[in-house]
Amino acid sequence: MRAVILISGNGSNLQSLIDDAKRIDLEICLVISNNRNAFGLKRAERANIKTLFVNPNLFKSRKDFDNKLITIIDKLDVGLIVLAGYMRILSSDFINHFMGKILNIHPSLLPKFPGLNTHKRALTAEEKYHGASVHFVTEELDGGPVISQEIVEVDSQDTEYSLAQKVLEREHILYPRVIHWYTQNRIELTNNDCIKLDGKII
Ligand code: GRF
Repeated sequence: MRAVILISGNGSNLQSLIDDAKRIDLEICLVISNNRNAFGLKRAERANIKTLFVNPNLFKSRKDFDNKLITIIDKLDVGLIVLAGYMRILSSDFINHFMGKILNIHPSLLPKFPGLNTHKRALTAEEKYHGASVHFVTEELDGGPVISQEIVEVDSQDTEYSLAQKVLEREHILYPRVIHWYTQNRIELTNNDCIKLDGKII
């Protein structure tokens, strides 16, 4: 399945998808970044994948920026849009245009800790368990239906950094797994708030 990947930073999740692309039937047509210096762009170039930096400063609104992305992505005829550390909130136009085709990975056990600084917040809340979630993107920020999660135990010695590393390790297993389900047409978003796996609502 053809896909576009949106990134803003390091791109370790992107790397896990590049490394697993064949096995999970994923053809990464383009990696788009809103950040010129995102290391993920280098990772894509190294793998001979096309990259594009779209400069947010050249657009007068989020809507305009996202409309530009819609135009670019529409031309590529992709079945999937993967958010992999993409740090911009998407406009309703974008989300509705591609509804059911956008996946995001979030570093917490949603619905716990949507938004930023999830590891710090999990430590402050003295959570015993933490982890990552992959969900369909809907208009509610980090609020779309969760498809699958990976759980890690929080140790008393964990710092924000160590916890982030543990969670990232699981993310690199979780995202390819869910994307493989998607490329095999095993999962679908129905009514914007329900997930079907192998035809059954989960
Ligand atoms: C990950 O923790 C992901 O869950 C979140 O942003 C981070 C991106 O990391 N959405 P990377 O750029 O893939 O290394």
